[in-house]
Amino acid sequence: MLTLGIETSCDETAAAVLQDDKVLSSIVASQIPLHKKYGGVVPELASREHLKNLVPIIREALGAAKVSLKDIGLIAVTYTPGLIGALLVGVSAAKAIAYAQNIPFIGVHHGEGHILAAHIEYPGIGYPYIALLVSGGHTALYHVKGLGEYHMLGQTRDDAAGEAYDKVSKLMGLEYPGGPVLDRLAQEGNPEAVKFPRTRLEGYDFSFSGLKTAVRNHIALFMSKDQGIDPKLNVKDVAASFQAAVVDTLVEKTIKAADETNVDKIVVAGGVAANSLLRSRMKEESQKKNMSLYLPGMGLCIDNAAMIGLTGYLHFRRGETSSLDLNPRASMPL
Ligand code: KG4
Ligand code: ZN
Repeated sequence: MLTLGIETSCDETAAAVLQDDKVLSSIVASQIPLHKKYGGVVPELASREHLKNLVPIIREALGAAKVSLKDIGLIAVTYTPGLIGALLVGVSAAKAIAYAQNIPFIGVHHGEGHILAAHIEYPGIGYPYIALLVSGGHTALYHVKGLGEYHMLGQTRDDAAGEAYDKVSKLMGLEYPGGPVLDRLAQEGNPEAVKFPRTRLEGYDFSFSGLKTAVRNHIALFMSKDQGIDPKLNVKDVAASFQAAVVDTLVEKTIKAADETNVDKIVVAGGVAANSLLRSRMKEESQKKNMSLYLPGMGLCIDNAAMIGLTGYLHFRRGETSSLDLNPRASMPL
């Protein structure tokens, strides 16, 4: 069966075609150049850009998969969480196609899509596993016992890890999104140059706002009202020290979760899973503990529609669909 996946929850317009659980095509149009000059995503601009790009992107995905719309048997679309206007574009398009083609449609939770992206690259992964979901909107640890069974062990009490990257980048006058920029700079910096705090909460919760404040205070030492940031501020060292603090807590809690639940498989998902230090540290630490690590490739970590198509298909295979009165929602727990 062919599934058309659609993703428009934030600043990527994406469509993908899957044959059962195999991805035939996956097209992602990033809006980053549009939002960059504002230092973050402007919701209204995002909606308009999705509206402009979605149909051409769907056509491109169908073309790349060498199929036509009449061959599609299921439409899967992100309906939560995200920017409401942006979600509305994808959900409306999905409903219109489903109605016109008289085929089933299913709404997908974006966070579930991120977690299940690992199944695209590792179809035999099986359950249970521990999933660390780290993106611009989420930072949470789940004990995944089966499809649809996501037991949350802990989550951030303030900023998501990706959000912390984006904010710190802005503080240093660097570009949006901050993750890739700081990741690159950190590779040439000294992670021990600045002693940033690691907030160690009990259990599996995270907190990044203290770290963000510490970075702000450090930068303030190099700021003057009329001259801006002093060039003596070593941005590479700050990036490396900040990144080390973020990754330390993420890795530590994930390994602890696997240890304490007696689960030997770990999935790392979401945009921050593209981070080079997080990837290498997770590999090292999981190997030490004889745990298997499932790290989706970079293209599957950042927002895409292949993960949404797969998630929709897996639920559909169990007999689930959504009704055409499903509305998008800005937030909803997994
Ligand atoms: O999953 P995603 O594409 O969108 C959300 O669902 O939020 O994640 C985007 C987030 C942004 O905050 C971005 O700065 C971060 O992922 N990110 C990274 C890296 N690449 C993207 N963070 C750290 N290191 C990276 N290499
Ligand atoms: Zn995402």
